[in-house]
Amino acid sequence: MGLLELLNIRSKRPEGRVEGVEKVTGSGKYAAEYEVKNMCYAVLVNSTVPSGKIQSILVDKAKEVEGVIDIITHLHKPSVPGMDTEEKIKQSRFGLPIFHTDKIFFKGQPVAMVIAETLEDATFAASLVEAEYQKDSFEVDFNSAKEKVALKAEGKERGNFDSWQNLPFTVDQQYNIKADVHNPMEMHATIAHWTGNDTLKLYDKNQGVNNVQRTFARLFSIPEKNIQVFSEFVGGGFGSGLRIWPHVLASVMGAKQVGRPVKLMLTRPQMFAATGYRPASWQRIKLASDPSGNLSGILHQAKNETSVYENFNDGITRVTRLIYKFPNLKTEAANVPLNLSTPTWMRGPGDCTGVFALESAIDELSYQLKMDPVALRLKNISLQNHPDSNLPWSTHFLDECIDKGAKMIGWNARKATPSTVIEGDWYIGYGMAVGMWNAGRAEAKAAIIMSKDGSLVVQTAMTDIGTGTGTGMQNIAHEITGISKNKINIELGNSALPPAPSQGGSTGLSSVSGAVYDASNQLKQKLAEYASLVNGSFKGAALENILLSDKSISLKNNSTVSVSYEELFEKNNLAEIRLEVASKPGSEREKFAFCSSAAHFCKVRVNKRTGKVKIEKLAVVADGGKIINSQAAANQMSGAAVGGIGMTLMEENQIDAKLGTLIGNDLAGYHFAVNADAPIIEVDFIHKPDPNINPSGAKGLGEVGIIGTAPAIANAIYNAIGIRMRDLPITPDKILMALSHK
Ligand code: MOS
Repeated sequence: MGLLELLNIRSKRPEGRVEGVEKVTGSGKYAAEYEVKNMCYAVLVNSTVPSGKIQSILVDKAKEVEGVIDIITHLHKPSVPGMDTEEKIKQSRFGLPIFHTDKIFFKGQPVAMVIAETLEDATFAASLVEAEYQKDSFEVDFNSAKEKVALKAEGKERGNFDSWQNLPFTVDQQYNIKADVHNPMEMHATIAHWTGNDTLKLYDKNQGVNNVQRTFARLFSIPEKNIQVFSEFVGGGFGSGLRIWPHVLASVMGAKQVGRPVKLMLTRPQMFAATGYRPASWQRIKLASDPSGNLSGILHQAKNETSVYENFNDGITRVTRLIYKFPNLKTEAANVPLNLSTPTWMRGPGDCTGVFALESAIDELSYQLKMDPVALRLKNISLQNHPDSNLPWSTHFLDECIDKGAKMIGWNARKATPSTVIEGDWYIGYGMAVGMWNAGRAEAKAAIIMSKDGSLVVQTAMTDIGTGTGTGMQNIAHEITGISKNKINIELGNSALPPAPSQGGSTGLSSVSGAVYDASNQLKQKLAEYASLVNGSFKGAALENILLSDKSISLKNNSTVSVSYEELFEKNNLAEIRLEVASKPGSEREKFAFCSSAAHFCKVRVNKRTGKVKIEKLAVVADGGKIINSQAAANQMSGAAVGGIGMTLMEENQIDAKLGTLIGNDLAGYHFAVNADAPIIEVDFIHKPDPNINPSGAKGLGEVGIIGTAPAIANAIYNAIGIRMRDLPITPDKILMALSHK
């Protein structure tokens, strides 16, 4: 495409994504795409045993390769002040102390890093590094290891445990979910550049530049302002960029060691053990109700895998405390250490897993009660108060989500008796489930800058991992100021911009929107102040009375007065107007509880000959408060639901338990949902702003798009074939096996 055509597209893009043209033309730069002078390339060497100790690392052969500059090992490395003692390593809570230990915790753990003039040199040399290990016994099998770890009460019981143990309507079942891997399209990469002794530039794939900045300031004992982190384009995260992984530190150490900028990009196979995953889990749920479907009590037990060097808890039981008004409740959990890398948050973390068990069990209860699963839920959802804190929900419209979703799927066509609708080789069934997420918010800053020509730049350090944060910021600035969208530029993903929290936990827009909203309003007020120097009518103008156009400011109640920005800037002797605003949660959090929620409805076909599950229709309705940009929000919801389809039907990080090796660690071996697996997903919203959460009324959406997906599908499969599938993924072999026992 020629430059003129490109510019033409740019000028014609009022409604789309602010970064759309950059993304589709390739001009937007992802971490690994920056060009830095004098840069060299790093490649990690991974351990070939799952447990033990490094006895020796032979690097001589690798060093002879032309172009090799240096090879980092735990015996040959630059100083990292924040990790120079065992105690500091522990305090740093960095996770894997890369190149600071001779211990091996998992197969694939980086033990050396080759730095060379080209990627090819580094890759070849890395293959020549030879490590010898003292091998120890290891455990990678979650199923057997979980038996050795005892559950612990989480200390938040409700009511009384014995009171409901012998009720006639009881479900008591176990659920297993395999580990899922985020696998964002863009692989994690870092270019580390020490621009001085204690000044560092990082081009890095992550979900929070300020978090990266703080971490390296701590590790290298240098002021935060000496570190600049760029993550201007991020090709997906799903949680994998919420913490700083060992390879990022490796690249920074490498750059220090060789005194040159170093680029390190993980390979796809390395991504399976270097940037976290949704941990495999086991759950038991026992729940009971009275004969009219009033839920009486629940016991929710959960175990998730973790690594032997870190204790990660996925928070699986949290959602059980959130959705229903169980008068009696007990939750217990445990983490199961294995010789694998540490898992982390993955889209809808904890809740996704927990809700699969909870919503499967509720569905099962509905069949026992001979009650419509929709009615059972509507009867028991805690719509007024947070069941734990008893604080009133600020807004909560899960009931409306359910009503809408039922209409969208055509719930009336569902047969209450499973396995009764058959078309040729296909069983047909309907299922539904709900999900919730605490609607969080953190302090965020944004700046708005106006130039003489009336154009605006809105800035925040927050990354946009593909969710549409930048577009949402433009939408808000446009809505408040009235200035055309094509005159509003967005800058983000750079730690030098006004600081913001990481983009995660569905808090991105709900945090930064408040700052953009306030900054836009303050700009209007400020412009009126400046305009009053030219025309006295603007003095003390009320905010509602201020009207901005692309060229000038005027008053709504007096159309004859108007001051052009050009004149306003000149008379006030301004080069630009810049306002920086912070927005943070306050006392409203003591008065209200906040949540987002969604209902998932699904129609499936299950093939009796092949065991294939075909999702015919998936409808998702969410309450995310005010929807700032319907398109971006709907994309988030349907994208999340596709992830949910993968989790339900195909995703599994396969491990050879005898060798401790990941065996499906590439995009051919790891099956996930592609276009042919997903129907057009119908998405709708409740569109009611939350008046208390922040000035914009947006509650956050990312997580609730996936949370109810798996149980909605599994419940539909039950309705289709009359067999309850309690282990994910529900692959065709499992269906065939189940059907053969029917
Ligand atoms: Mo998400 S797990 O909050 O990136």
